[in-house]
Amino acid sequence: MILVTGGAGFLGSNFVLDWLAQCDEPVTNLDKLTYAGNPENLASLAGNAGHRFIQGDIADTELVAGLLSAHKTRAIVNFAAESHVDRSIHGPEDFVQTNIVGTFRLLEAARAYWNKLEAEERKAFRFLHVSTDEVYGSLDKEDPAFTETRRYEPNSPYSASKAASDHLVRAYHHTYGLPVLTTNCSNNYGPYHFPEKLIPLVIHNALAGKSLPIYGDGQQIRDWLYVKDHCSAIRRVLEAGRAGETYNIGGCNEKPNLEVVHLLCAILDELKPGADGRSYKEQIVYVTDRPGHDRRYAIDAGKIERELGWRPAETFETGLRKTVQWYLDNQAWVRNVTSGAYREWVGKNYQDRK
Ligand code: NAD
Ligand code: DAU
Repeated sequence: MILVTGGAGFLGSNFVLDWLAQCDEPVTNLDKLTYAGNPENLASLAGNAGHRFIQGDIADTELVAGLLSAHKTRAIVNFAAESHVDRSIHGPEDFVQTNIVGTFRLLEAARAYWNKLEAEERKAFRFLHVSTDEVYGSLDKEDPAFTETRRYEPNSPYSASKAASDHLVRAYHHTYGLPVLTTNCSNNYGPYHFPEKLIPLVIHNALAGKSLPIYGDGQQIRDWLYVKDHCSAIRRVLEAGRAGETYNIGGCNEKPNLEVVHLLCAILDELKPGADGRSYKEQIVYVTDRPGHDRRYAIDAGKIERELGWRPAETFETGLRKTVQWYLDNQAWVRNVTSGAYREWVGKNYQDRK
């Protein structure tokens, strides 16, 4: 059995769905169901005996200890986190609690469980920590992409809390020998992406006739990866990654935000033309920048390719088209997640931006 945490969120639910589609090893899915966790993402698993969902907190050591020992757990894949940079600027406390304290408690539960395993099981056990390229900070235009040895320079409360969690994971290997793996990935996009993040927000706002907010000059660069490619990379690292190692994961798809939004508008113009015949591009507005906004991220994914033979399957164009189509086909999902508390967030984040 593997224990997946945060498996009702964007990445975690994609990972669980892909995992169970590809193998018969059962998954226990521990998720607190914050605003970002959505059991609807997992609706297709209803009645699947290989999936056991538990609502709970990674910081609840007793709960985690019980889950680990109730089954022969051979790996933990930790997706659980507060993940939105803008929310971390408005309220950093939850980020410290889940990303730092939560990861620490999860590591403690894992260490206690791992210590009691037989020698062979101890050797085979893995704690895979899913992290981000944001821990490395911001790149200038000409800088080389982030490698695994790049100095940590996190700039937001979100990335600082993720950096702290990465350091804890590293320390548990160095000090206690816990067989950990860390992955640092670039920006993902795809199905089940909560519409507070750029790509799903733009699709949702475009279709709703609302403005498409571009922070600052829109020339900030992100390195985009289709979520299913991230999931395949994590499976590969879990299967063959060397304990104690870090693997950077990225799509080699560096794009300025404005170009991403233009591309989305062009795909929407084609797949779902507006009734008035105007391009969705006309809904673009420039708004006040994100405080401390990182200018550029870029991942050097050479290590995972050389050592583990992983490469992404999708290009940005094919992945983006699939994503837009998914949102068009799943408007009921979008309606459900954008009701209620989501509206409060949109008010908070955008009302003071000029
Ligand atoms: P998300 O916000 O969509 O999902 C996070 C999930 O964790 C939610 O289901 C939430 O309910 C759950 N959760 C939050 N606090 C919890 C707690 N204390 N205990 C148990 N569950 C809890 O995030 P995501 O985009 O799926 O990201 C998942 C992980 O991948 C995060 O660690 C993030 O830092 C990392 N990451 C994300 C991206 C990206 O582009 N989305 C890229 C690289 C790395
Ligand atoms: O790099 C990996 C990270 O990618 C993950 O660690 C995070 O969990 C994930 O949320 C994502 O962080 P970003 O801050 O890059 O993603 P977001 O979608 O919020 O923003 C992408 C870019 O678009 C960023 O430069 C800010 C900009 N943006 C975002 C929003 C929501 C806008 O211009 N307008 C917006 O309304």
